[in-house]
Amino acid sequence: MNEMIADRTRRTKWFLHDRFGMFIHWGLYAIPARGEWVRSRERISVEDYEGFFREFNPSEFDPKTWAKLAKEAGMKYAVLTAKHHDGFCLFDSSLTDYKATNTPAGRDLVREFLDAFRADGLKVGLYYSLLDWHHPDYPHYGDRNHPMRENPAYSNENRDFNRYLDYMHGQVRELLTNYGKIDIMWFDFSYPGMECETWKAKELVEMARSLQPELIIDNRLEGSGEKSGTIMTKNPSVYAGDFACPEQMIPPSGMTDEAGDPIPWEACITMNDNWGYCSSDHHFKSPRMIIRALVECVSKGGNLLLNVGPDAKGRIPRESVNILKALADWMKDNADSIYGCGMADYEKPEWGRYTQNGKKLYAHVYEECMGAVCLRGLAGKIDHMRLLKDGSEIIPTDFWNVKEYPTDAFFFFDNRTSSFPLPDENDSVLEITLK
Ligand code: GLC
Repeated sequence: MNEMIADRTRRTKWFLHDRFGMFIHWGLYAIPARGEWVRSRERISVEDYEGFFREFNPSEFDPKTWAKLAKEAGMKYAVLTAKHHDGFCLFDSSLTDYKATNTPAGRDLVREFLDAFRADGLKVGLYYSLLDWHHPDYPHYGDRNHPMRENPAYSNENRDFNRYLDYMHGQVRELLTNYGKIDIMWFDFSYPGMECETWKAKELVEMARSLQPELIIDNRLEGSGEKSGTIMTKNPSVYAGDFACPEQMIPPSGMTDEAGDPIPWEACITMNDNWGYCSSDHHFKSPRMIIRALVECVSKGGNLLLNVGPDAKGRIPRESVNILKALADWMKDNADSIYGCGMADYEKPEWGRYTQNGKKLYAHVYEECMGAVCLRGLAGKIDHMRLLKDGSEIIPTDFWNVKEYPTDAFFFFDNRTSSFPLPDENDSVLEITLK
């Protein structure tokens, strides 16, 4: 195996075992409360955004409650926006004044986040925006995304991108030097003309790894599209990243490289339609949909990074808390079908999904079946079966009408004649121990 891939495999071992993390998008944009792209979308100048900086005072910020919610929901790691595209830093950077310590908050919020989550045994990651709409040396006029992209008064004359790169590299160095062990670095994002070596990506990653050799890095220093050296190839570049990070979708059948071998991936998904807090967005997914999204990721060999966008006071929205609590309920009973699990040796069944961990095959039953639930191709392969949530025995049925299907196994949830209603309307999990 190529050395890059061997290192990646070693580094991502815990990550792929743990499967489930919390994404936290939080910053000044929680005040306008129209999502984290508000400056770009509404073409807001630095000056007009300044009021939020002077006002930022999250009086209810308590990362211990965030950590508790994440941990109870079964999440094993969390990634916080240390700096988003608006350039505002939640950490005490010596390279800028545009940071939380200079707002009424007056504290290093990244440090508090890290302390709280580590104390609860979670691994920690930092999101860091490659874009910066506050830094004077980042391209303004004519850029694809900058709030001033259409304003010729913000021409790029006298902007020195190398100065920005020094700043950006310097901040990454600070984050990886001053805050103890960081498990994940989540760079965001590249776009045509601003990708790969535009960021001095090789140097950046080499520096990051020299500071934290086991650091896991996403693949957004690369732009999208078919290129040599990406994570999808057998010869990934130094900055190809350790995992792919599909956004707002779950890949149709997991993710593989050009030779068809699985690569590490993590789907990042919002609970409503925004990453950053949006006060008018109540379009939340149901707990059931989220539980099933987690199962879907695992069934395809990937992770789920589920987002919350705390409000200006520092509180996670009530709807998100409800989803996290539902996850907690379900995970309390069913976590064995998630951690350490991945793609199963059996095809996706009609009634739901499989996940698998060695000899343990987990049947996630979503649909009520007419009669016995069919386990295709499993006849003679089952040692025993238990309902995962309470450990109770489930026995294969030999009801007369299943005898026509000698290679399949069947069961009833009540061990008699019925498979409805399902024991858990979100996802009823049967643990099948294979011979
Ligand atoms: C994006 C967006 C962003 C969000 C991120 C999460 O590329 O720019 O606001 O932070 O995706 O994946």
